[in-house]
Amino acid sequence: MSNVALFVTGGIAAYKACELTRALQKAGHDVHVAMTDDAERFVGKVTFEALTHHPVLDDLYGMVGDPIPHITLSEWADIAVVCPATGNVIAKIACGIADDAATSALLACACPVMVAPAMNVRMWLNTATQANVQTLRDRGVGIIMPETGLLACGDVGEGKLASVEVIAQAVLQAIGAQHKPRDLEGKTILINAGPTREAIDPVRFIANASTGKMGYAIAAEAISRGAHVRLVSGPVSLDAPEGAELIPVTSAAEMLEACLAAFDGADAAICTAAVADYTPKRSADHKLKKSVERLDIIELVETQDILAALSAEKGDRVVIGFAAETNDLIAYAQAKLARKGCDLIVANDVSRKDSTFGADTSKISFVSAEGVDELDTLPLAQVAERIIDRLAGLLEVRP
Ligand code: CTP
Repeated sequence: MSNVALFVTGGIAAYKACELTRALQKAGHDVHVAMTDDAERFVGKVTFEALTHHPVLDDLYGMVGDPIPHITLSEWADIAVVCPATGNVIAKIACGIADDAATSALLACACPVMVAPAMNVRMWLNTATQANVQTLRDRGVGIIMPETGLLACGDVGEGKLASVEVIAQAVLQAIGAQHKPRDLEGKTILINAGPTREAIDPVRFIANASTGKMGYAIAAEAISRGAHVRLVSGPVSLDAPEGAELIPVTSAAEMLEACLAAFDGADAAICTAAVADYTPKRSADHKLKKSVERLDIIELVETQDILAALSAEKGDRVVIGFAAETNDLIAYAQAKLARKGCDLIVANDVSRKDSTFGADTSKISFVSAEGVDELDTLPLAQVAERIIDRLAGLLEVRP
C-alpha cells in the first residue's frame, strides 16, 4: 500500500478526482486530499473527507492539532498527484509559488509528482502554459496529457482531463515503478514494436495484425527499471510510455535503418515488431486504377531481417527476438534462435485467444541455448516484467 497525496485544484473536472480517489483506494492505496479554495467551489471537501476518511488539507492555519499540516502531508506522501491541474497551478508549481495550503504542501513534496492538466484549449496551448509544462517535465514531473474533445466551456480542442482510467493507470504504474529494482539503470535498450506498412501505392499498403501492445509494455517496464529506451515503432494507436525516446517509422526498410542507427551505443535490443517479410517491388507514385492497371498481381521482394542484422553486429551485447507461431511453437522458435543468431527467443502461440495479437494477456516460452522455459498465461505487464528479468540476467553475465 502506498500513500497518495491528491491535490485537487479549481476546474470543473474536479468532480472526476472523486472517482480517481475511489480507483486508487480500490487498488489498495491510502489517499489524502488537499484542495485549493477554487476547487472547493466545484466540489465540497466533505465529499473527499467521506471518501478518504481523512481531513482535507485546505487551510495552513486551521488544522486542529497540526501546526504544520503542509509538511505533514508532504512527508506522508509516497506520490503526489495533481488532478485536475489548472493552468494557474501548473504555473505556480513551475515557479515554486506556495501561496495556499495545497501549493505549500506540493512545494514541500520530495516524492514523485504527477500532474493531470485540464483547462480551456487556448489556456492549454498558450506558450506560457506549454513552457511551464515543459519545465515540469524537465524536472521529472509526470505529465498525464489532456485529451482532445468537447470542453466544459463549449470549445472543442485539447485540454480535456484524461479519463479517470488513464490517470489511475498512470499513477498505479508510477507506484509500481517505485517498488521495482533499478537493475537497468544506465543501460540503453532498443525496442522495436508494432507492424510495418509496405506501400503498394499512396493509398494502399500491406500490413499485419500487430498492435504494438507487447513492445510498448516491455518499453514501459524497462523504463520503470531505469533504462533509457529507444522505441522504434511502426504505426500503432498507442501512446508511447512516458520517458521513451520514440522513433516512429512506417516501412520495414525505415525500421531497419532506424534500428541500426539506434543500436549504436545501446546495450541490448528487443525485437517485438511484426516486420513485413515481403514488400512490393515497386510502389506506384499515383493511386492505381483497377480498370487500367493490374491490382491482382503485386510483385513482392523479401525485406531484410532486422533481428538477424542486429544480431550480426551485436558483439557482446544482448539481442532478444520473438517468434509468433500458430503451430510447432518450440521447434520453430529453436530454428529462429539458430538462424537469426540472437541470445533468446520469446515464443508466443498466437493461435490461442489469450495470447493472440491485441490480447491483454500472453502465454510465452523462453527459448535459448540453455533450454525451454514455459510460462503460464499472464497479463502483458507481467509478461514484460519476466522478459526484462531475463534481459537483466543476460546483461549481468556480460563482461
Ligand atoms: N523479424 C525481423 N525482420 C524481419 C522479419 C522478422 O526483425 N524482416 C524479427 C521479428 O521482429 C521477430 C523475429 O524476427 O523478433 C521473428 O519474426 P516472425 O515473424 O515470427 O518470423 P519470421 O522471421 O518472419 O519467419 P516466418 O515468417 O517464417 O515465421
